[in-house]
Amino acid sequence: MNPSKGETIVDIRGLGKTYGSAEVLSDVSFTIKAGECFGLLGPNGAGKSTIIKVIYGVVARSRGDLQVMGFDPQVDAMELRRHLGVVMQEDALDEAMTVRNNMMMFCRFHSLKGAEAAKRVDDLLESMSLLMKAHARISTLSGGMRRRLAFVRSLLSQPKLLILDEPTTGLDPAVRHALWDKIRELKRGGTTILLTTHYMDEAELLCDRLVVIDQGRVNIQGKPRQLIDEHCPGYVAVFGQGSDLAAGAMRREYASLDAYSLELKQGAMAPHVLRPANLEDVFLKLTGRVLKEND
Ligand SMILES: Nc1ncnc2c1ncn2[C@@H]1O[C@H](COP(=O)(O)OP(=O)(O)O)[C@@H](O)[C@H]1O
Ligand SMILES: [Mg+2]
Repeated sequence: MNPSKGETIVDIRGLGKTYGSAEVLSDVSFTIKAGECFGLLGPNGAGKSTIIKVIYGVVARSRGDLQVMGFDPQVDAMELRRHLGVVMQEDALDEAMTVRNNMMMFCRFHSLKGAEAAKRVDDLLESMSLLMKAHARISTLSGGMRRRLAFVRSLLSQPKLLILDEPTTGLDPAVRHALWDKIRELKRGGTTILLTTHYMDEAELLCDRLVVIDQGRVNIQGKPRQLIDEHCPGYVAVFGQGSDLAAGAMRREYASLDAYSLELKQGAMAPHVLRPANLEDVFLKLTGRVLKEND
C-alpha cells in the first residue's frame, strides 16, 4: 500500500446519500491524488461529515461508486481502516482511560508493540504538547486537548491517507498554528490529506485543491488561488462595521489598488475594511450566500 505521487487514491463518482426522505448528498464526484492536501468545504449541514463517514465506511451510501486506496469502504471497511488515519468531528474517546493507555490501545489495533510503540506514543504526545498529560484521564482534558489527542492518535499507524473532519474547530490560535505546521510537515513527508473546514484561511493555506459542497453537490472546485483569481481577482471593500460578510453588508470589488485609489480621489466613501479577496468572496459571488458559520 504505497501509492506513488499523483496516483488517484480516492475516487468518488455520483455519490448520493438519503436519510429517510431527506436527500443529503445528491451527486458528489471528485478524486484525490496521492500526496495532495484536498479540502472539502461547505456551509454547516452541507454533508461534509457524511462524505467522510461514507469514505471511512461507517455510513452506507445510497448511490454512486467509491474507491478508497483500492477498497470499497462498504465491503472492506476493516481492511481499509488499517491504512487510514481519521479524526472525526465528534471524537469518541474513552473517558475513563488515561491518555497514554488510549494511545497504547490504538497501537495494538495497528500491531505496534513494545519499545517501538512506546516511543511512537511519546513522540506523538510530545509533538502536540500532550506528554505532561500522559497519565491524566481523558475525562479531565479540555476540548482543545481532546482534539489534539484524537489527532495524534490518528497518526500512530503512519497513515498514507489522513482524514481530518474540522480539525481546528474550537482550538485556540496557537494550537491551530501548531496543527497547521504538523499537517504541512506530514504533507512534505508524502501523506495524502483530506480535510473539511469552514475556515477559509485554513483552506487557502493548506489545500492544494478543494471542492465546495452545497445543496448536495459539488458546485465549486479547483485550486484556491486559481478560484480567487478567476472569480474575484483583486480587493474587496466593505462598508459597515461588524462581520464583513453579514447579510446586508455593503461590499464592492476592485480589480486593483489603483482602481480603488482612483475612486477615492473622485470622492467615493472610504470603506471600513479593504482586504484582498478570498475564498469566502468566491462562494458568495457564485451562490449569493455566506459560507462561514458563526463561531
Ligand atoms: N444520521 C443521520 N440521520 C439523519 N440526518 C442526518 C444524519 N446525519 C446527518 N444528517 C443530516 O445530513 C445533513 C448533513 O450533515 P453533515 O454531513 O453533518 O453536514 P456538515 O458536516 O457539512 O455540517 C444535515 O442536514 C444533517 O442534519
Ligand atoms: Mg461536519
